[in-house]
This record gives sequence, structure tokens and C-alpha cells, in this order.
Amino acid sequence: MKQIDHIAIAVNSLEESIKVYTSLLGVEPELETITAEKVNTAVYDLDGVSLELIEPIGDDSPITKFLQKKGEGLHHVCLKVDSLEETMTELKEKGIDIIDETPKIGAGGTKIVFIHPKSTGGVLFELNSGLKKKDADENAD
Ligand code: CO
Repeated sequence: MKQIDHIAIAVNSLEESIKVYTSLLGVEPELETITAEKVNTAVYDLDGVSLELIEPIGDDSPITKFLQKKGEGLHHVCLKVDSLEETMTELKEKGIDIIDETPKIGAGGTKIVFIHPKSTGGVLFELNSGLKKKDADENAD
């Protein structure tokens, strides 16, 4: 069964947004930089589902482009799946367009892909098996 893993919100300034979201949610976030995606993140764990604030690093971050086009707001919803590869095959067969040909590295070093928003009514979905790249490689041996 697929579950919602996290909901990600694009923000201009992590420092400013952390103040608001920490007041709103009543918990402290964990901070992480995801170099491959050129973002800084603040993750609030809300009993299984996380709320993730994402701030771009530099002008060539995909989040910079998003903020310029749409402003701050919902960026993506992440679904946790049992097997990333199996889900990718299953969705492709159903005609759902996956942006990434092969998985890339997301938060916590896990393998992720994104589904094209044109397949899902304008919402960007991330798929994440929770498996780290390293674990997955070891499992493949
Ligand atoms: Co995400």
C-alpha cells in the first residue's frame, strides 16, 4: 500500500519560514542539505507524515525556477512505495509519465523519482521506497 511520506513546501527563506512553521506545528525541524537537488530542507516529523520546507541553493536550483514561476507554496507530495522499480514499471504501463528515467538521491540518501504533474492534475508527486542508494545496491548483490 502507498502511504504519504512527506509534503514539501517551497519557501524563499528557510530561516523565515522555520519561525512560522515551528510556531504552527509545535515541534523543531531537522535540517538537511540535499546537494544533488540544490536545496536546504527543514523536516518536521508529524507522527509518520513529514512536512518538509525546501529552500533553493543558488540560481540554478530547480526550486529557484519554481519560486519565480509560482511563488511560495506546495511543491510536491511524496508517496512511500514498497519497490521503486516495480512501481515505476506499473505506473508506466498505466500511462503515467515519470520524469526520471532512473532513480536519483533525495532526502536522507534515499532513492526517489518524480511523476510528471501533467499526469496528476498539476501536482508534482515524488515516489520513495525509503531505501537508501547504498542499501539498494547491497540488496541487488
Ligand atoms: Co521530497
